[in-house]
Amino acid sequence: MGEITVEDDGLPCPEVGAWAEDKYKLVGLYDRLFSTGMKNKWPTGVYIDLYSGPGFVRVRGTGRMLMGSPLLALGAPDPFDKYIFCESDPELLGALQSRVSRYSSKANATFICGDCNEKIDEICASIPMHSPGHGVLTFCFVDPFDISIKFSTVKRLSSYLIDFLILLALHSDANRNIENYLNPANSKVEDFLGLPDWREEWKIAESRGGQFPRFLAEEYSGQMVKLGYIRQRWDRMKQVRSDEKNLPLYRLSLFSRHERAYQYWDDVLKYSSDQQNFKF
Ligand SMILES: C[S@@+](CC[C@H](N)C(=O)[O-])C[C@H]1O[C@@H](n2cnc3c(N)ncnc32)[C@H](O)[C@@H]1O
Repeated sequence: MGEITVEDDGLPCPEVGAWAEDKYKLVGLYDRLFSTGMKNKWPTGVYIDLYSGPGFVRVRGTGRMLMGSPLLALGAPDPFDKYIFCESDPELLGALQSRVSRYSSKANATFICGDCNEKIDEICASIPMHSPGHGVLTFCFVDPFDISIKFSTVKRLSSYLIDFLILLALHSDANRNIENYLNPANSKVEDFLGLPDWREEWKIAESRGGQFPRFLAEEYSGQMVKLGYIRQRWDRMKQVRSDEKNLPLYRLSLFSRHERAYQYWDDVLKYSSDQQNFKF
């Protein structure tokens, strides 16, 4: 297992809560299982990070610095053949570019500056072409602060052979802002789920005692099924809690069209269920 701590290089490095370390361990481990498992089956493996960040983060209150998701993917023992990084903040993207060229000068990486929902054409155009005898398999990590990832973006990418690991900000955003989102003038949940009539569905679920985070997660999974993905169960969506108040923040959910990916995800969950021994 690799090391995920790094030394300060003076470039931008946002602060994260200590719980984020769990996320990095899960994602880093999944990157490794996926890229190694697929390397002999697919001529070209592609990694897409729709919310890349600058490549380093600092754990609040500790001074510890960790690799962010782009560097974890670059550090996989069997690296991907192509990396596509999208980040809306130009300064953070610039920092990421410097770090990528320092850590993996030979990596084939494309950097796209802007909102991933708006830059989806550019992102898709960067995915290498699939041709007979030359299969391309893509893994896409989706790591927003909130529920701003539009389902139309995921749908567009789903026209490729692509697996997703999506952070569903069910508690940290959706549940906290439910009153705003219920306002018919607010389209955030509609865009997130790709379901214009979600409010009617929620009314029914709520009258049966349903909880909003679980309702959203299950609707999301149902939407992925319509795109040909295997339904992801609520209990297989890894919950991450805040270490300050032990409140749930989000769930990390894998979506694939192939059972094999779910076996890798189960392995990741097995490691993480024993946090004590969960060394990356
Ligand atoms: C939670 S951080 C993700 C960090 C990164 N995945 C990591 O592991 O360190 C979200 C990042 O997405 C960027 N961002 C926010 N909205 C975005 C959007 N619509 N498209 C692309 N990037 C966005 C933010 O500037 C921030 O750096």
